[in-house]
Amino acid sequence: MPKSLLRKTMYGAGVLAGLVLVAVVSVYALSESRLRKDYAIRVAPAEPDPALIAEGARLARSRGCADCHGDDFGGKVLLDEMPFGRIVGDNLTVMPAGHARVSVRERMYRALHHGVDLDSRPLMMMPSKEYASLSMREIDALSAYFATLAPVRRELPDSALGPVGRTLLVAGKMESFLSAESIDHAASAVAEAPPIGTLEYGRHAAQLCTGCHRGDFAGGRMDHGGPGMPPAANLTRHATGLAAWSERDFIAAMRTGRRPDGSEIDGKAMPWRAVGQASDAELHSIWLFLRSLPPIARDAAKAP
Ligand code: HEC
Ligand code: HEC
Repeated sequence: MPKSLLRKTMYGAGVLAGLVLVAVVSVYALSESRLRKDYAIRVAPAEPDPALIAEGARLARSRGCADCHGDDFGGKVLLDEMPFGRIVGDNLTVMPAGHARVSVRERMYRALHHGVDLDSRPLMMMPSKEYASLSMREIDALSAYFATLAPVRRELPDSALGPVGRTLLVAGKMESFLSAESIDHAASAVAEAPPIGTLEYGRHAAQLCTGCHRGDFAGGRMDHGGPGMPPAANLTRHATGLAAWSERDFIAAMRTGRRPDGSEIDGKAMPWRAVGQASDAELHSIWLFLRSLPPIARDAAKAP
């Protein structure tokens, strides 16, 4: 091959290689710029729904959470009586150690619907059996509300059941102490509560009362009532119950802690301060429901 032809061929090959390289580089660059383009999409966290938060605040007050978890929901020692035990209502404004990434909703759902903590262990004294009937919307409302609370820093001891408490538990004297034992864990929460104002809503809301006034609402001694604790009253429309009460008497009693005759309802035994924070429409529903119950003759003070 003549030298000039060889040079031309090599020159041509060089140009070709150069062109291929340029093509590869530009294909890479063009595709890369499209593959890596930043579309700058930023999704804001779900806007907390003010109506849901307000509903949660109302439930947290009227369903008695503050009675056991403190007025600021920062936790409270409920009972410190070793060798019986020490029972502490958890701080609901901060997530428990080791669970910082878990949602408030998961914590609430487990505690309210199942009576268990984030490690799936049964909660002591938390009345989840009564709360298990809360609707999913009510649990969402409570979760939305608790998620908005500023963390309260408070040193609290751990709950622990002492030898006397354990003996009573084993002897079957503390039936409602571990709600998780009597909850149907296969049942899912209803989506929504019936409309406020109806008798059906009253039945729903009054589940909270059954832990003390019993499933038939005719009252009697409470298994968690210590010495000096009055029995829960008969709420049915029998003469031994609320036969002589009007709806106004009932609402006034829940708001003021006084019966129609002016006597005081024991606020340590009966959470009237909490129940009294329910709206008129809610209390009206509860009243409609109580009035729909068959009258049961039971003098609470003498009931076994
Ligand atoms: C009669 C008292 C009482 C009432 C009323 C009560 N709690 Fe509790 N709750 C407790 C106690 C005690 C514990 C801790 C039990 C334990 O440590 O075993 C607890 C635990 C909890 C926990 C679990 C905390 C964790 O470990 O993650 C949540 C959540 C909770 N309660 C929410 C509520 C809400 C919401 C309400 C109101 C709708 C409420 N509680 C009403 C006593 C109560
Ligand atoms: C933690 C236990 C407990 C819960 C929960 C509870 N009660 Fe009571 N309630 C009592 C006790 C105990 C008494 C009696 C107080 C007394 O003798 O001073 C009582 C008294 C009453 C009275 C006064 C009746 C009378 O003649 O003395 C009414 C009304 C009442 N409760 C309604 C309700 C309603 C409605 C609910 C549910 C929304 C409810 N209670 C939830 C324990 C409870």
